[in-house]
Amino acid sequence: MNDTNFAYKNFYDVGVIAAKGAGQIQKNRVNTTLNIEFKGQANLVTEVDKACEKFIVDTISQAFPDHDIMGEEGLGTRKNSEYKWIIDPLDGTTNFAHGYPLFCVSIALEHQGQIIGGIVYDPNRDELFTAFRGYGAYLNGQKISVSTVPTLEQGLLATGFAYNFRTNRNNNFDHFFAVMQKAQGVRRDGVAAIDICYVACGRYDGFWELGLFPWDTGAGFIIASEAGATVTRFDGSTCTVYDKDLLITNGKIHTEMVHLLLEGVQKRQFGS
Ligand code: IPD
Ligand code: CA
Ligand code: CA
Repeated sequence: MNDTNFAYKNFYDVGVIAAKGAGQIQKNRVNTTLNIEFKGQANLVTEVDKACEKFIVDTISQAFPDHDIMGEEGLGTRKNSEYKWIIDPLDGTTNFAHGYPLFCVSIALEHQGQIIGGIVYDPNRDELFTAFRGYGAYLNGQKISVSTVPTLEQGLLATGFAYNFRTNRNNNFDHFFAVMQKAQGVRRDGVAAIDICYVACGRYDGFWELGLFPWDTGAGFIIASEAGATVTRFDGSTCTVYDKDLLITNGKIHTEMVHLLLEGVQKRQFGS
C-alpha cells in the first residue's frame, strides 16, 4: 500500500511487521530438524507454528494491548474489544514440514464483526498480499485484481481437503471430481491463504474448499473481495469468514461453479 495517509496505517504497519517477522522465522527453520506433534492423524503442528504465533501475538499485543487475538494455536487473548486479529501463524504446515516451499503467514483484522484488513506473507517468494476495506488489494504495493477468464472451461482453479477427509464423507471428493471434468485445471497446493490470494491476483480463476476455519480464510477473504472477487457459500449466498465451505472466484465463472458444487453435493446425498 502506498498511501501513507490511509485510515488503517497503524494496523497495516504492525500487521506487516508481524507477518514478515513470522515469515523470517519460517525461512530460518524450513529444512531443519523439527519437533512435530499431531492434532489428528494427518494434522501436524510444529514448534515453528507455535513460535510464529507467539511472535505475532507479542507484536500485536505490544502495539494494541486492548485488542482481542484469535490464533490457530491457541495463544490468543480475549479482552472484549471491538477489534479482533485472526491469525494463522503458518498456513501450509504439511508443506513446511516436508520442505515443500509453499507456506505463508495469514493475519486478518476484524472490527465489530466485519473483516476490515488482511495480510498474507509468502516468505519463499517475498510476496506480501494486503488489503484494507475500501482501499483495494495489493501485492508488494502494486494494485491487483481478479482475472477476466470468462468460462470454467478456460479456468485454472484451486481447492483443498480438510484434515478429516478420511473419516468425513463430506470430504470434497465429489466436488473435486465434478470440477476436474469441466475446468482447464485444478490444483491442490495445501495452503488455503495463498490459494485465495492467487485468485485475488488472477493466477487462479477460482477456489473452493469445505471445512475451513476463519484463520485460513480471514485475510484472503478481504484481499480477494477488494480485488473484485465474488465470495459466497457453495449455493451462491452471502457468507462470512465463519462459514466453513467457501467459493471464491473472479465472478465470471461463479454461476457455473455454484451449479457444479451443488451437483457434487447431490451426488454425495443420493450416491448417483
Ligand atoms: C490447512 C491448509 C490446507 C487446507 C486445510 C487447512 P494449515 O491449514 O490451508 O490448504 O486444505 O484445510 O487446514 O493446517 O496448514 O494451517
Ligand atoms: Ca491454515
Ligand atoms: Ca496453520
